[in-house]
Amino acid sequence: MNIPDIIIAIDGYSSTGKSSLAKKIARKFGFLYLDSGALYRGVTLFAQEEGLISRLGKVNPALEEALAGLVLSFAEDGRLMMGPRCIEPEIRSMEVSSQVSNIAAVPYVRAWVDSQLREYGRRGRIVMDGRDIGTAVFPEAQLKVFMTASEEVRARRRYEEMVAKGETPLLEEVVQNLRERDYIDSHRETNPLRRADDAFELDNSDMSFEEELAWVQGVIQGKFGIL
Ligand code: CDP
Repeated sequence: MNIPDIIIAIDGYSSTGKSSLAKKIARKFGFLYLDSGALYRGVTLFAQEEGLISRLGKVNPALEEALAGLVLSFAEDGRLMMGPRCIEPEIRSMEVSSQVSNIAAVPYVRAWVDSQLREYGRRGRIVMDGRDIGTAVFPEAQLKVFMTASEEVRARRRYEEMVAKGETPLLEEVVQNLRERDYIDSHRETNPLRRADDAFELDNSDMSFEEELAWVQGVIQGKFGIL
């Protein structure tokens, strides 16, 4: 199946499987996959290491100026780099997860991340996942998907993902983190998480990965009239 040089935006709640689906679509169509959440996680790790966020999540305004010296980039294999240093898997830790939504609610942080994301988008043929890609970063994206799933399914997925990586999270802690992030992400003033009016909604609570892919393929065929 051939697909035009479009931007595909995949937004939705935490742990709905956005990145797995986005990666798969990117591989299938030879598109570039970009994980916008990784940049917010990278800024959070930076703020923590620079002592610019308190344990309670209060952000020091000095972060705005400090961002001028921060260089985040994606390596060929998609891992996030801070300057020459690979910051995976640190940015996926519970410590970063517990503060990332506070950092992501800061308007100048969003502006900093957005400018990087738009730079990548200039070349087209891109699949990007996040919270506001279809509503704010690329409102012109030709295909938008908004993903949801039940909280129970999402928490179980995130828990199993962490265990598979050799971590020892508490299920209750994982649930708490999902709830907190979803709340902050949906209620912040700047570009909150919401479904774009022209996004196709995908609730994958009871779907296998193959069914999900078939669904996306159907949407693409329907929208672009390709077989
Ligand atoms: O993997 P998961 O869906 O749990 O999160 P992520 O994509 O790694 O994003 C981490 C956090 O970054 C989210 O909870 C949001 O607070 C923030 N984020 C955002 O505000 N806007 C985006 N476009 C992407 C992520």
